[in-house]
Amino acid sequence: MEEKQKDILILAIESSCDETSIAIVKNGREVLSNVISSQIDTHRAFGGVVPEIASRKHIEVIDIVLDEALEQANVTLKDIDAIAVTYGPGLVGALLVGVSYAKSLAYTLKKPLIPVHHIEGHIYANYIEDKELKPPFISLVISGGHTHIVYVEDYGKFKILGKTRDDACGEAFDKVARTIGLSYPGGPEIDKLAKLGDKYAIDLPRVMIDTNDYDFSFSGLKSAVLNFVNKSEMTNTSFKNEDLAASFQQAVVDVLVSKTIKACKETNLKVLTLAGGVSANSFLRESMKNACEKENIKLCIPSLKLCTDNAAMIGCAGYYEYLKGNFADLDLNAYPNLKLDNIAI
Ligand code: KG4
Ligand code: ZN
Repeated sequence: MEEKQKDILILAIESSCDETSIAIVKNGREVLSNVISSQIDTHRAFGGVVPEIASRKHIEVIDIVLDEALEQANVTLKDIDAIAVTYGPGLVGALLVGVSYAKSLAYTLKKPLIPVHHIEGHIYANYIEDKELKPPFISLVISGGHTHIVYVEDYGKFKILGKTRDDACGEAFDKVARTIGLSYPGGPEIDKLAKLGDKYAIDLPRVMIDTNDYDFSFSGLKSAVLNFVNKSEMTNTSFKNEDLAASFQQAVVDVLVSKTIKACKETNLKVLTLAGGVSANSFLRESMKNACEKENIKLCIPSLKLCTDNAAMIGCAGYYEYLKGNFADLDLNAYPNLKLDNIAI
């Protein structure tokens, strides 16, 4: 009789920015718990994440988050097979809290330590969402720090087809939101406001939409918004924030959809996934869905909780690294500028 394979339980830690999260993930794709403690309310008063405060908050809550994650999963530390942790990119102090915590757990429990790239984690959120999903596929990675079109060849094997030449997509959302007085983080605020506006009211550029590559640029669009707002103030012309939000969002989404569909067509890949915080955007989700239906491309988008920072996605990526035996020593460091290319084979 065939022996049933032992279940592998990964305890995963994510602390790269302003969310302290610990998850317990079984066999890569089954999330037993995914506890997220967000610091957003603390940072909102400052209009963005304050790195020093972020590190301190992580330290304050990480023990509680661990207890909660174990309790929700109904397991104890003795049941855990390995510890996975985000080791970059992100805020160095914030990353260090998670990395140090993971190292002490791995040392005490005598279990392997698995370093995970944060963006790889975002891509892997799709494996949790769609249990049947397998590489190869295209992934559009859009977060506060990244805008990449990635060719996912295999587990842990990526080719970057294109990326932003300046601002990340989420950064543009946050900066435009700030310009019109919305609170941090700006992405969800623009998303909400845009629903009430006219997306054709203000003419904004679709930067690099026709270039013969898969790269993006968002700083020109951000400047166009700033110029529009300044000019309106100087000429005493009023405009509706709702219209600006809708027009800006349409300009971003037009470029994202056009370049990503082009990548799918030119690589002949019929599966597309979205990853990172901006994939929570309701208008993008709808527009990409329509475009994929037209082109007969299967689209996978993580549920909202798996789009933004969480440890379950790190646990999923950690599982596939575990299968390959990609473990770190206890001198593992945090790498704030870790590139996805660094782990691409
Ligand atoms: O992936 P993430 O949670 O953290 C990073 O790794 O950066 O992404 C955060 C970014 C922020 O810029 C935030 O404004 C954006 O994702 N975001 C959104 C939405 N929800 C979060 N942008 C547009 N629409 C949303 N609904
Ligand atoms: Zn992220």
